[in-house]
Amino acid sequence: MKYLTFALAKGRLAFDTLDLLEKCGITCEEIRDKKTRKLLFVNEELKLKFFLSKAADVPTYVELGAADIGVVGKDTILEEGRNIYEVLDLNIGKCRMCVAGPIEAKKKLYDGSLIRIASKYPHIATDYFYNKKHQTAQIVKLNGSVELAPIVGLSDVIVDIVETGTTLKENGLEVLEEICPLSARVVVNEVSMKMESERIRRIVKDLSKLV
Ligand code: PRP
Repeated sequence: MKYLTFALAKGRLAFDTLDLLEKCGITCEEIRDKKTRKLLFVNEELKLKFFLSKAADVPTYVELGAADIGVVGKDTILEEGRNIYEVLDLNIGKCRMCVAGPIEAKKKLYDGSLIRIASKYPHIATDYFYNKKHQTAQIVKLNGSVELAPIVGLSDVIVDIVETGTTLKENGLEVLEEICPLSARVVVNEVSMKMESERIRRIVKDLSKLV
């Protein structure tokens, strides 16, 4: 039997996913050890392999077939735009993709003026402003702490994830528009879906009963 490989986005999402997999009888104890420097973990009995990677790389591993199955946020799926099947919403890691900024910036979203947007998600921001709002925008790509951008005058608004809203609140910013809801999704390589259809469908079916 061929190994099936799982790519999980590093962080809390990975542990929540491992909990769900465990309830389906799929275990990988070693991967939970925060001290290990090992990168690939094997469950010989079930012929499964697991690895953790940066969220943004999960769709890449899955598209190119280095992983058969991935678990990653919808934000990353939208941003990366890879050719992969999205097969299940796990309903964990729920949050929203939003346009946020100081309340004074709200009028810039309607008056047709050129707006500058900072984001870790330039593709999502571009798609939203150009294709949905039909508004000309200048998108500035940042790599983190995006809320800083409107505070120091780098941008008018941001496009970012809002979970509890605490980061926005503590920095005097507000949600100005909601782009879409987000959560963790199971993604599958297109070839694996055909070649390993039975095993993959069983796993997805078992997971679907829990979410
Ligand atoms: C995410 C996101 C927001 C924050 C939202 O940042 O980019 O900054 O969480 O969460 P809240 O609504 O619960 O406050 P992350 O922790 O990934 O850090 P980074 O932006 O610096 O990468």
